[in-house]
Amino acid sequence: MRVPSHSINVRLLYVSRAVGPQTTTMTTSILAQAQAHNQTQGITGVLCQGQGFFFQVIEGERSRVSTLYRRICADARHQDVDLLHYEEINERHFGQWSMALVHLSVDDPMVRLQHPDFDPYSATGPQVMQQVLDLLEAGQPIHLPKV
Ligand SMILES: Cc1cc2nc3c(=O)[nH]c(=O)nc-3n(C[C@H](O)[C@H](O)[C@H](O)COP(=O)(O)O)c2cc1C
Repeated sequence: MRVPSHSINVRLLYVSRAVGPQTTTMTTSILAQAQAHNQTQGITGVLCQGQGFFFQVIEGERSRVSTLYRRICADARHQDVDLLHYEEINERHFGQWSMALVHLSVDDPMVRLQHPDFDPYSATGPQVMQQVLDLLEAGQPIHLPKV
C-alpha cells in the first residue's frame, strides 16, 4: 500500500560557512525566523553555531523539510551549504525544540576533549550528528526560542 507522503518524516543535517561575523544580532534574527516558521510547520531541530560555521539538524515532514532546506540554502548569511546526512525517521531526536541553539566555542573543554580536531567539513555525517547529540547531553548552553 502506498504510504501518504505527509506521514513520512525525515531528519536532515547540513554544515555551512557563515558569511561575515556571527553576531548575536544575526543569531537572534535567524532564531526568531526559525521560531516563527518551524512551529507552524511541525519542524524541530537544533542549530549549532561557532568558529565561523553553522551546522543544523532539521526534522519534520519530508516536503516541509525540503522546502525549508531550499530556503536556507538560498540565505545569503551563509554559504557552502553541504548536506551531511539525510534519513527517514520514526522518532525525532529534538522533538521538544522548534529550534534549539547550541554555541560551540573553541575553548569549550568538552569540545576539546571529545572532539579535539573537530572540523565539520572533514567529519562524516554520523560524526557530526554524534557531536550534536553529545553537546545536548553535556548540557551545553541551549537557548530555547520563546514559544
Ligand atoms: C544558519 C541558518 C539557519 C536557519 N534556520 C532556519 C529554520 O530552522 N527555520 C526557518 O524558518 N528559517 C531558518 N533560517 C532562515 C531562512 O534561511 C530564511 O531566511 C527564512 O526562512 C525566511 O525566508 P523568506 O525570506 O524566504 O520568507 C535559517 C537561516 C540560516 C542562515
